[in-house]
Amino acid sequence: MKNTITKAVFPVAGMGSRFLPATKASPKEMMPIVDKPLIQYAVEEAAAAGITDMIFITGRNKRAIEDHFDKAYEVESELAARGKSELLKVLRETVPDSINCIYIRQPEPLGLGHAVLCAKPAVGREPFAVVLADDLIDAPTPVLAQMTGVFERFQCSVLGVQEILPEQTRQYGVIDPVALDRSVDRIRAIVEKPEPALAPSRIAVVGRYILSPEIFEHLERVKPGAGGEIQLTDAIASLLATSGAVAYRFEGTRYDCGSKIGYLAATVALARKHPEVGPQFEALLAELAGRR
Ligand code: UTP
Repeated sequence: MKNTITKAVFPVAGMGSRFLPATKASPKEMMPIVDKPLIQYAVEEAAAAGITDMIFITGRNKRAIEDHFDKAYEVESELAARGKSELLKVLRETVPDSINCIYIRQPEPLGLGHAVLCAKPAVGREPFAVVLADDLIDAPTPVLAQMTGVFERFQCSVLGVQEILPEQTRQYGVIDPVALDRSVDRIRAIVEKPEPALAPSRIAVVGRYILSPEIFEHLERVKPGAGGEIQLTDAIASLLATSGAVAYRFEGTRYDCGSKIGYLAATVALARKHPEVGPQFEALLAELAGRR
């Protein structure tokens, strides 16, 4: 298998129904955490892992994402004319020079597995990353860079995992792990959204994957699973029979920005650290806490 990962797939075609009406006309991945949309955090993470080809699987509200990663000539010339060089720099850094953006349409939101399958023509026969931008992971070393290291070591698919509470198994793909070392498990089995009593463990897959290209053959074969959707987890379960996969307990804090509470938690955590507003925000939090 090729040793380096150069392509990342960003499925951004979901309904985002938990955030309606905010997601009525714009994808949830465009929601900002402080001053950057979720999708930009995800693309920056991929770029930091040396990935150059960013493949977006878009849905009916794709415009905002395409525009975000395009040049904004009018805004740039306006800022230049007003001498706002700092803001101009921020704007230009949205798209690092080293990256290519590719957009593929998912005609209907038939599930995460189906969205990943839509990337097949752009990915070809090489291992690739999948990043769910609504899982924001704040980490000292960006998580995809941690995971490409694991991929190089084990030469098979790698899933980002974390421990969850027993009652949360219904929201995740849950693995049956066999420990290989402190942070890596071999995956014996994987189940999508099991009832707590039937879950093989409390180790759940979050939105970071490195997948071998054979996954596409499995995705082509799997039938709709949980929620009537084509599930990526079901294709991974099928992949396990032919080529192995490992689970990696990454270093970092993950925020489930697909849920309102996770989104708010990410906003508070990143605002506190923000170089421009951090100290002021901290003072505001203290003031609000004093008022309760
Ligand atoms: P979610 O399970 O969070 O679904 O998708 P969702 O539709 O985005 O949000 P809710 O549950 O209705 O609030 C996980 C990821 O997979 C993408 C989503 O955009 C999200 O990044 N996805 C999901 C697709 O691209 N296509 C699909 O058909 C389903």
